[in-house]
Amino acid sequence: MEQYAIKGGNPLVGEVEIGGAKNAALPILAASLMTDETVFIENIPDVRDTNVLMSAMQDIGVMMKKEGRHKATINAANINTTVVTNDKLKKIRASYYLVGALLGKYKEADVVLPGGCDIGSRAIDQHIKGFEALGAEVKIEFGRIRAKAEHLRGNHIYMDVVSVGATINVMMAATLAEGKTIIENAAKEPHVVDLANFLNSMGANIRGAGTDVIRIQGVQRLHGSEYMIIPDQIEAGTFMFAAAITKGDVTVKNVITKHLESITSKLLEIGCEVKEEDDCVRVVASKPLKHTQVKTLPYPGFPTDMQPQITVALALSQGTSIVTESIFENRFKYVDELIRMGANIKVEGNVAVINGMKKYTGASISAPDLRAGAALVLAALAAEGYSTVDDIRYIERGYEDFHIKLQGLGAQIDLIETERDFQKFKLKTG
Ligand code: EPZ
Repeated sequence: MEQYAIKGGNPLVGEVEIGGAKNAALPILAASLMTDETVFIENIPDVRDTNVLMSAMQDIGVMMKKEGRHKATINAANINTTVVTNDKLKKIRASYYLVGALLGKYKEADVVLPGGCDIGSRAIDQHIKGFEALGAEVKIEFGRIRAKAEHLRGNHIYMDVVSVGATINVMMAATLAEGKTIIENAAKEPHVVDLANFLNSMGANIRGAGTDVIRIQGVQRLHGSEYMIIPDQIEAGTFMFAAAITKGDVTVKNVITKHLESITSKLLEIGCEVKEEDDCVRVVASKPLKHTQVKTLPYPGFPTDMQPQITVALALSQGTSIVTESIFENRFKYVDELIRMGANIKVEGNVAVINGMKKYTGASISAPDLRAGAALVLAALAAEGYSTVDDIRYIERGYEDFHIKLQGLGAQIDLIETERDFQKFKLKTG
């Protein structure tokens, strides 16, 4: 099994290029099957989740031609079934985007139920409520979600919780429903807006994405499009925090700075310098880090997907910090690993109380999920001595070339498979 071997202690310095947003690419890829015309998509991140989704789409007859690593031509004129059983799909959350896309276009879908990161219970009641409001009958059986409608008709839908996935799914189905749909209490994340822009580029009529009321006037059909996916807010935020955690100086390129505001403001609060330019942001951490309080919230609040990264930084700051996780109930599992590296953190329910300490020490650790895995790598890069991080398949779900980009910033990190590889890494870096 592949692991990362890491020798910590080097401040990360240099420039890093951010790729396309995974959480925008997933619904955009799914939505590309909603037209029979050809769609060309650029800036698709080459990560496990997007590759699994693309292969599941090919399994049902979608023609998918990749150009290099990040572009694809997609044509869904010859889909031969609305039943998606690709077993790998169970492992990715975004499998359920195929339900909204297929239901919209063919008025039926039968898709294996999602798994994804183990960060808490992942209800789908709001997706179901939305599909039903549009006139579909929805059943969960045999590990699948099955949705079917004679006609889809627009409706007024109030989401009981702010859900990225439910907003996206209902938006896709409503695009090809008859009449007008209003989604209230909609998610406002940049990827929700990016999907709306993509659908509009295919002829949809969606207004208000990015606010909490989205209005969709259904259209009869969608046409082809060429579209470039936005940069990944969380990949960018992870590298910004990498600078803070390793006391480095990192310029994160190809970002939309507006999407990073909540992250930037926390970095400023804890004593980093943040300089924004048009499409890049430089983070310099030359002073000791200060404590703060943070609560994860839907966009534009501080993202839950950045919670482990800020916790890793706060464990190295002066004083006592408080991190409250308000989106997922089980997103502090990585804290036990940080404690093994010397952190002083106490978790009670959804609150972590962090007493800052001077330095992490290296250890053998496991990535419990995607973002926590990346955050543990950052802790290991700041730690004294050597670490190994296993279960890196989680990290590969959402970060393209993570260790290679870190190497580009001067990190001592390598992929290893055996104890012998680890010894070689130690000789090389010793
Ligand atoms: C998306 O998950 C992201 N995944 C997650 O990113 C991200 O953490 C999350 O949004 C929050 O920003 C993708 O985009 C593929 P939600 P999603 O529906 O859509 C509750 C990563 O690391 N809820 O916004 O599944 C739910 O339990 C991943 O890239 C319901 O109660 O999240 C949670 O508490 C991890 N009923 C809250 O809403 C529902 O029907 C937010 O979930 C749906 C959700």
